[in-house]
Amino acid sequence: MKLAVSGKGGVGKTTLAASLARALVRRGYTTLAIDADPAPNLGTALGLASDVADGIVPIGEDEELVAAKTSTGYAGVYNLSFPIDDLVRDRAVPTPAGAGLVVMGTVRTAGAGCTCPAAAVVRALLRRLVVGDQQAVVLDLEAGLEHLGRGTAAGVDLLLVLVDGSAASCTVAGRIAALAQELGIPRIALVGSRLDQDGGCDAATACAERFGLSLLASFPDDPAVARAGREGRPVPTEGPTAERVEVLLDKIVRKVAA
Ligand SMILES: Nc1ncnc2c1ncn2[C@@H]1O[C@H](COP(=O)(O)OP(=O)(O)O)[C@@H](O)[C@H]1O
Ligand SMILES: [Mg+2]
Repeated sequence: MKLAVSGKGGVGKTTLAASLARALVRRGYTTLAIDADPAPNLGTALGLASDVADGIVPIGEDEELVAAKTSTGYAGVYNLSFPIDDLVRDRAVPTPAGAGLVVMGTVRTAGAGCTCPAAAVVRALLRRLVVGDQQAVVLDLEAGLEHLGRGTAAGVDLLLVLVDGSAASCTVAGRIAALAQELGIPRIALVGSRLDQDGGCDAATACAERFGLSLLASFPDDPAVARAGREGRPVPTEGPTAERVEVLLDKIVRKVAA
């Protein structure tokens, strides 16, 4: 099962991606968490100490690795049919949450008809990673639409788009959903996140209706989650948010199987 989490910046993507990864591990899935945000922070959400998380060299920024994968010996000509399984085997960092973590890093694709080898390696990893029955990939996408635009979300079974009740998050969600449909992602659903008591849920519901998407779950603003975020600690393993993550994961498993 390959899941991707997207939405406007600050809406709670990393928090949800880490929570889902941990819940999947607890259910016996071998889980790979992929941080595709150029400003990565999924590692600390999965329980890594910040110095360990900061010490990870992102795949897209590892020039030696990228060259070893894509070099043909001719300038401007890249080999794009390299194996990727070793990338996961050698580069996934074990985390206290039990998921392996791969950090993609910033991949510059500026320039017309870009064939940046780093982007090719990152794309290949996201697209070609084969996932078995008891394996799961959780992809924490960046705030904007970059990765989706470049097609890196292709091969995803379910895209979760987070909305926090604000008009801006709904607008971004609509754009993401349209792009994802274009890319052929088979299942797209909204998830309400950080919703305030005062109309947050209604706004998330209205957003789902506006774009004809289902609202798979709603997470209220949870002070314990906010505190953990402020202090750079992993998301709480117990409490109302953790319980809702379990319910959401039940729905995800059913939806992906259907
Ligand atoms: N349900 C929630 N309740 C309260 N705070 C939350 C919740 N979800 C996320 N947060 C907090 O909001 C901030 C942004 O969350 P984060 O997951 O980093 O968002 P994103 O990855 O979308 O930028 C973090 O400080 C996080 O702790
Ligand atoms: Mg994030």
